[in-house]
Amino acid sequence: MADIKRKIKAFIFDLDGVLTDTAEFHYQSWKLLCEEQGIPFNRKINEKLRGVSRKESLEIILGDRKVDPEKFAEMLERKNNFYRESIKNISKKDLFPGVEKILEELKSKGIKLALGSSSKNAHLVIEGLGIKDYFEIIADGNSVQKAKPAPDVFLFAAEKLGVDPENCVVVEDAEAGVEAALAAGMFVVGIGPEERVGKSHIHYPEISKVKFEEIYARF
Ligand code: BG6
Ligand code: MG
Repeated sequence: MADIKRKIKAFIFDLDGVLTDTAEFHYQSWKLLCEEQGIPFNRKINEKLRGVSRKESLEIILGDRKVDPEKFAEMLERKNNFYRESIKNISKKDLFPGVEKILEELKSKGIKLALGSSSKNAHLVIEGLGIKDYFEIIADGNSVQKAKPAPDVFLFAAEKLGVDPENCVVVEDAEAGVEAALAAGMFVVGIGPEERVGKSHIHYPEISKVKFEEIYARF
């Protein structure tokens, strides 16, 4: 009988909070902006911003506060300037432990690799991290209109790789990202605590703990 089991052909990695701790740099940059503008901000609010686009993050931070469009755009730019300053010296040492080994291992198995990030700074970050050449496709905040939790960025990556969504595995640290990958019909590996990534098919506290045998067994 023909083997009709789904087959893993591609891995699509989120960037911030999965491959590197830029989630902390995003947090610090929003904090600087909010302090400057006198807007309350803390880690609890920040948790709602994981995986969420820059524009939607500011909408969440502002809540009911009204700002005119020019001011809104200026605040986005200011936050991004703080962020870009903070990642200026990012390098291989900022990769989470085990990341390069995982990328190497997948490549050696003939698995296609893509990045699926909400960030418009993704190219800059992976260049700094020295891992750009591992990825055939870099799908980022500039690739699609609808950000996570919409499935678009992952579907875009799969289409460019030439792999059906059902043959893709997504690695994500954000609730919005897990939802996006599920909506794309992909297998989802969550990185982080249960309350954040509990909807994923399988999850691990950190990327270095990922076990491929388990993923292959569950796929
Ligand atoms: C996501 C981060 O990867 O990218 C979010 O988890 C961030 O925190 C989003 O807001 C957009 O990033 P950028 O670099 O375009 O501001
Ligand atoms: Mg992330």
